Amino acid sequence: MYSILSQCYDALVGADYPAMAEFYEAIWERFGQNPQIVLDLGCGTGNLLPFLEQKRQVIGVDLSPEMLAIAREKAGPDTLLLCQDMAELDLFGTVDAAICALDGVNALPDARAVERMFSRVNLFLSGGGLFIFDVNTPYKFEHVLHQQTFVYDTDEVFLVWENEYDGETGICDFLLTFFFPQPDGSYRREEECMREKAYTKEQLCGMVERSGLELLAVYGDGRMQEPACDEQRLYFVARKGKNAPNQ
Ligand SMILES: C[S@@+](CC[C@H](N)C(=O)[O-])C[C@H]1O[C@@H](n2cnc3c(N)ncnc32)[C@H](O)[C@@H]1O
Repeated sequence: MYSILSQCYDALVGADYPAMAEFYEAIWERFGQNPQIVLDLGCGTGNLLPFLEQKRQVIGVDLSPEMLAIAREKAGPDTLLLCQDMAELDLFGTVDAAICALDGVNALPDARAVERMFSRVNLFLSGGGLFIFDVNTPYKFEHVLHQQTFVYDTDEVFLVWENEYDGETGICDFLLTFFFPQPDGSYRREEECMREKAYTKEQLCGMVERSGLELLAVYGDGRMQEPACDEQRLYFVARKGKNAPNQ
């Protein structure tokens, strides 16, 4: 996963990273936090790192060496980047806050892995530390992505992105067909399959509670308000459980 997409992720992603970083800052402020060390889970190509690094020390974790290699070029020298499965998170010490941005949670293979990841975050957060993550909603998989094909035409790549969602299993399969322009005017064709899994708000609330984290809020996309029923992205804010141990 992401080994080919990494080559053109930044040309395609289209997310407003400064706004996302500001949203985290606003949530930390609302809950009285000023974290010194922030963990960016599934940090990808590191687009959030320069914004987080302005005020905080940052640790990035991602499973894809290709995504991390690009993140390394953007990260400051003090930022630690770890190639790890976030469901098996293992750090040298605690962090004051954790984030998982742009549906990294949906990329985990199943609910067990999600719950395991939440437990590991709970273990490595310092007392009162917040974990903020966002997910693609079942609404988005069903009404925006299912059986839709998206075409991206950029200088770096021509990409055909096909989506198939199974409402029974909650699994959405993505088939990505890349055409990379070559110096001789031809195109190199490559394919990558990726998969995300949908969870309802209620399922995720249950997983948060079972992991030992304390759920504080569920927000709509980019605003600290109740989500609408057709929300495509939800933000969850959880806090390290009062009795949760550190390693
Ligand atoms: C949609 S990208 C988001 C990247 C980044 N957070 C951003 O906002 O641009 C999801 C990222 O999660 C990573 N990922 C997927 N499964 C993972 C896992 N089990 N452990 C760690 N990272 C994972 C992928 O490699 C990818 O970089």
